[in-house]
Amino acid sequence: MIPPPTTRWAVPARMASLLMLPLLSVHASVEDPKLLPTPPMGFNNWARFECDLNETLFTDTAQSMVSRGLLAAGYNRLNLDDCWMTHERAADGALQWNATLFPHGIPWLADFAHKHGFHLGIYEDSGNATCGGYPGSYGYEQKDAETFSSWGIDYLKLDGCNVYPEKGRSMAEEYKLRYGQWHQILSAMEDPLIFSESAPAYFSENKTEWASVMDWIPYYGELARHSDDVLVYVGEGSAWDSIMVNYHYQTLLVRYQQPGYYNDPDFLIPDHPGLTDAEKRSHFALWASFGAPLIISAYIPDLSDEEIQFLSNKDLIAIDQDPLAQQAALVSRDGTFDVLTRSLANGDRLLTVLNTGSSSAKTSISLARLGLQSKCQYKARDLWTGKTSTIHDSVDVSLDSHATAVYRITPGRGCTSVTPTGMVLNTVSGHCLTASSSGAVFDACNAADTQVWSVSGSGTKVTVSPLSNPAKCLAAKGSSVELVDCKRGDGTVWSHAITGHLQNANGDCLTESGGQGSLAGCELLQSGQILSLPSGVHVVEGSGRSR
Ligand SMILES: *[C@@H]1O[C@H](CO)[C@@H](O)[C@H](O)[C@H]1NC(C)=O
Ligand SMILES: *[C@@H]1O[C@H](CO)[C@@H](O)[C@H](O)[C@H]1NC(C)=O
Ligand SMILES: *[C@@H]1O[C@H](CO)[C@@H](O)[C@H](O)[C@H]1NC(C)=O
Ligand SMILES: *[C@@H]1O[C@H](CO)[C@@H](O)[C@H](O)[C@H]1NC(C)=O
Repeated sequence: MIPPPTTRWAVPARMASLLMLPLLSVHASVEDPKLLPTPPMGFNNWARFECDLNETLFTDTAQSMVSRGLLAAGYNRLNLDDCWMTHERAADGALQWNATLFPHGIPWLADFAHKHGFHLGIYEDSGNATCGGYPGSYGYEQKDAETFSSWGIDYLKLDGCNVYPEKGRSMAEEYKLRYGQWHQILSAMEDPLIFSESAPAYFSENKTEWASVMDWIPYYGELARHSDDVLVYVGEGSAWDSIMVNYHYQTLLVRYQQPGYYNDPDFLIPDHPGLTDAEKRSHFALWASFGAPLIISAYIPDLSDEEIQFLSNKDLIAIDQDPLAQQAALVSRDGTFDVLTRSLANGDRLLTVLNTGSSSAKTSISLARLGLQSKCQYKARDLWTGKTSTIHDSVDVSLDSHATAVYRITPGRGCTSVTPTGMVLNTVSGHCLTASSSGAVFDACNAADTQVWSVSGSGTKVTVSPLSNPAKCLAAKGSSVELVDCKRGDGTVWSHAITGHLQNANGDCLTESGGQGSLAGCELLQSGQILSLPSGVHVVEGSGRSR
């Protein structure tokens, strides 16, 4: 468990105020979603060009985004990544752009962007140096924030290379202090920069520690890069596998996302030579289903008309930009199909199906699995074809390898109730909560009805019921769990916290222990207790949270 900040460490004066003051001066993130009410869309050079960026690339890209309709479709950010600066700061400590790469200067580029209807974003690092070896912001945070703002920049991606913990702090504590300090600086600005935090990406190898870092991320910034970088254009290996790695990490973070904060699974790479057409379209459809940032890293003037067309799909962009900002969560996973769902602001329901397998396959998804009412009529609109069909009890889907289907499901009269429904996943072990004769176990995910759970109620009063036995509810029974008649009430009341805890009204947490679903005292950094629930389950702060 991370100890709360105290002044017992020897800290530089610069950081002392941060350690003593609670972080209350908040003007951004989930506590005030106005700064970024929906996920950002735009362009970044990194995955396509890495350090080979310059003014012409940005001006040509901007002009192409205007003429090809991407700006009009919502892609209104131009973001510089690493390597834009010189190796030395100016005499007054300010960062300087490389004048060979940016002959008119970054303020000119910001002005150019604004005149064409874009925002300009920039990249820095919270450590001693950027990942590319340019000056880091450590010790210059206030100065750099002021510099960026004076240049006309309104978005900062802050990386986490070359961070060395001060004596007496763990790595996780060091990142928390630095990103917290940036949050304070940015929040105090008259026009706060949008803050993209790369901190979690430095912890993703240990999913327990990663979750503890994620716990403060939505309170400090508007979006976060949470895992590996997507494969760069010239990178070796499978671009699809790299997209799937980020996709899988993203599925573990459902509970953190809400208006004002977005999980960022990295750039769209529609001109990557290693991707099939189906994979490029899936990448876009999955990211839109997540309500993720849609930042294209490609050479936009050379994208094909088909690529521009799918990237401009109005229906999918509307899903991405839906003001409810729910992230689609897994309903089921069976080794071939991943099925995801979430709710939309107008009461519609999203159904997204990915064929992860290597050949074409068919499946059928029942209304019950989507948390919808049986005996009701719904309309399902296929967001790729625009075709609408009427559904009575299930949606039939037929998909090529690595293809993704997306449906927007609209309820008929009197069918508006939705129950958050889907997998209860241990995000550390990857095991699914599975209803059993004794109660519940944690098992490999197999998409059976015993692994699809309906979560009713809200706040500190939710009940959890398996589709295989909808009249039964998960309940505490000493140090184990059982399934009892929901009407019995006793022990069936739970709450889901941002820490991942599913806490019973008796105070204990559902815990994966030796494959069993058991109950134990709630602890942070307890790998058996970090659970992901269906999208739309109300998340409470949780007593153990280490903000
Ligand atoms: C700018 O960068 C692009 C992409 O790396 C490159 O193709 C182009 O030659 C560069 N232009 C200049 C003027 O350096
Ligand atoms: C600017 O970038 C060019 C091209 O990468 C490089 O050769 C040059 O050394 C850089 N200039 C400075 C001052 O860093
Ligand atoms: C990082 O920067 C700090 C502050 O300038 C300095 O004290 C420290 O020695 C540097 N650490 C490394 C490993 O370069
Ligand atoms: C992950 O990190 C936690 C907390 O720092 C630690 O207790 C645990 O041993 C680590 N797990 C692995 C597999 O390294």
